[in-house]
Amino acid sequence: MPRDIIIDTDPGQDDAIAILLALASPELNVLGITAVAGNVPLALTQKNARIVCELAGRPDTLVFAGCDAPLKRKLVTAEHVHGKTGLDGPQLADPTMPLQDRHAVDWIIDTCRAAAPDSITLCPLGPLTNIATALTRAPEIKQAIAEIVLMGGGYFEGGNITPTAEFNIYVDPEAADIVFSAGLPLTAMPLDMTHKALTTKPRIDAFRALGTRVGDMTAAWTDFFERFDMEKYGSEGAPLHDPTVIAYLIQPDLFTGRHINVEIETQSDLTLGMTVADWWRVTDRAPNCMFMGDLDAEGFYALLADRLARYS
Ligand code: RIB
Ligand code: CA
Repeated sequence: MPRDIIIDTDPGQDDAIAILLALASPELNVLGITAVAGNVPLALTQKNARIVCELAGRPDTLVFAGCDAPLKRKLVTAEHVHGKTGLDGPQLADPTMPLQDRHAVDWIIDTCRAAAPDSITLCPLGPLTNIATALTRAPEIKQAIAEIVLMGGGYFEGGNITPTAEFNIYVDPEAADIVFSAGLPLTAMPLDMTHKALTTKPRIDAFRALGTRVGDMTAAWTDFFERFDMEKYGSEGAPLHDPTVIAYLIQPDLFTGRHINVEIETQSDLTLGMTVADWWRVTDRAPNCMFMGDLDAEGFYALLADRLARYS
């Protein structure tokens, strides 16, 4: 029985590849895709989500626009990483599939209210504004949520937008605090792990070798997306953050981590958005998050190439 998921996203080249992976995987049933402001403003993330669904040959996918700004702060975007459009790299036509006219948060609430207990997995790939707003406005929806599996945070790796904060958490730390203290089963795919999932040349060549439009677009997106991280870290490729969330749902044994306490810094300007991960369990704070620290990178890319190969 496929697992019902909702992907909440701010495409973003890595978000795009995560959506392609999800739509190609029979283990998953994508109930809908909800866009949030993050890498680029909402007008672009909702458009980009539809571009990706059309690329996947799935114009039937329900795509909703959600929150256009964090709960309490000014939006911080990441055009320096993703380009002006958020999907820089290849030339892309505007989408023709419709954007649903309901607000993403209203749809998340109604969908969860109508769902069976523990039946929906939420997959946030961007700032947590939509998810936090839904949980705050309708706490009773927790009954339908089996698990939240998100890309965000970092501990040993530090931050990527400030010395201590990862982008998704930093953009809306108050929202992250709501999600991390919601008492729901929570799995985080942090920089500690994603920085070991690099887009090395052989891995990207494998996408290009597919000889399909999806393979070519994936390679073009990673070619563009990786230049920032390679320059900054001097690494052989960039971390392919968001697809690790979807890969975890399909093949969890690719990943290892610890169930620990993770709190979000929302007060200090210096460390705003830091995920304070009690990896060594030195406090008596209750564990609230499966915090991933490592992955089988070859296995991850093999899964990705296998699923992307299913697009003709
Ligand atoms: O820090 C990486 C995260 O921020 C990824 O989700 C990327 O798409 C950006 O949203
Ligand atoms: Ca993202």
